[in-house]
Amino acid sequence: MPFCGHQWTPQTLASHVPRGSRGPAGPDLGGLGREPSAPTRGASLLTEQGATKWADVDTSAITHNTNLIKQLVGPKTAVMAVVKANGYGHGAVPAARAALKGGATWLGVSSVPEGIELRKAGIPEPILNLGYTPVAALSAAVAAKLSLTVYDREGLGLVKTAATDIGVHVKLDSGMHRLGAAPDEAVRLAMEVDADPDLRLEGFWTHFADADGDAAFTKEQLRIFLDARAALVRGGATNFLSHTANSPGLLRFPEARLDLVRAGLLIYGVRPERHWDDLPTLRPALTWQTIVTHVMTVPAGASVGYGRRFRAPAPARVATIALGYGDGLHRRASEGGEAIVRGMAVPLAGTISMDQAALDVTNVRDVAPGDVVTVIGQDGEATLTAYDLAEASGTISYEVLCAISARVARRYT
Ligand SMILES: Cc1ncc(COP(=O)(O)O)c(C=O)c1O
Repeated sequence: MPFCGHQWTPQTLASHVPRGSRGPAGPDLGGLGREPSAPTRGASLLTEQGATKWADVDTSAITHNTNLIKQLVGPKTAVMAVVKANGYGHGAVPAARAALKGGATWLGVSSVPEGIELRKAGIPEPILNLGYTPVAALSAAVAAKLSLTVYDREGLGLVKTAATDIGVHVKLDSGMHRLGAAPDEAVRLAMEVDADPDLRLEGFWTHFADADGDAAFTKEQLRIFLDARAALVRGGATNFLSHTANSPGLLRFPEARLDLVRAGLLIYGVRPERHWDDLPTLRPALTWQTIVTHVMTVPAGASVGYGRRFRAPAPARVATIALGYGDGLHRRASEGGEAIVRGMAVPLAGTISMDQAALDVTNVRDVAPGDVVTVIGQDGEATLTAYDLAEASGTISYEVLCAISARVARRYT
């Protein structure tokens, strides 16, 4: 059942930041935020502006990917772009704008401040706080016209105290056991929201625990949800959005798409599993690069970095790069991590430190300070993806992207 939610207007917030402001894009490096694209080699323009590391975000890829999802789910299903955690590291405001351009009509965040950040950037579309709303954040959430998730009596009591128009999405726990009310209680909560003259029951939802893994469990979660939804409809509630599916859910379980899908990872152009081949034209939106800051030859037997974990088996060329765990490059990637320099993927050499790491560039000719180094992205024939870095880091691509820290300047095209 189609539902547009309500539109917010900037007048509802005291401090309005003009449309087009950059949002949380890391350090201000003068013109850096407006530069159209990174050269793949020789970062003179960037280094002149003081940058030694950056993440290029191709917002047209986010628009394109969102559009692919919209085409996939069809006209009856709305797309919520999940832009929490700074848009999975891509920048919440530019990601939100790009996704809206691609056909998303809702935005999902995990906290009230994340929603307010979007409002301050002048984004009027419906925003759902998927997470907890603390008492102290309620009036700000109401002023920003955020839709709020309710999953227990305390939450219901809280939204009732506002005694004003609030869009409420009641969350049911169908097996994730994180946030959510047991099915019967979720139905009761939703009925009470529906009966309240101030509140609007805008949504009824649940979240899958293992949509990219356990199909039987996911189907059971969906069944529990649909049974509860049927009870809610029998109870007289109408005109609310039912939603369950995240990226793996919307790809693997078409029957779970319902009125709205909550797409995160996919809009950024990353598939939930490396080997999945859905949406063949999906485009990764983010390229993460740094530069070589020093090159040296170390003799056979010499070690590189803290803990002396890299030992040169023979004389080796080692290039220091301006990226470390303080930038979000997981220290665990010291073993098995790679980066691309001069079009060749090479191994990291030794332990990643806070601000720096080293590459074994023995087999790459002419590496010199200022050369661009790619940790996620493509250079020449070589490509490294968020999965590659995630595997080396012992984690998932979601975490690799979210971990890219604020001191890595984001540049938008
Ligand atoms: C409640 C909820 N819905 C949707 C998503 C989006 O998930 P995905 O990035 O797999 O699309 C998330 C992300 O963690 C989430 O927490």
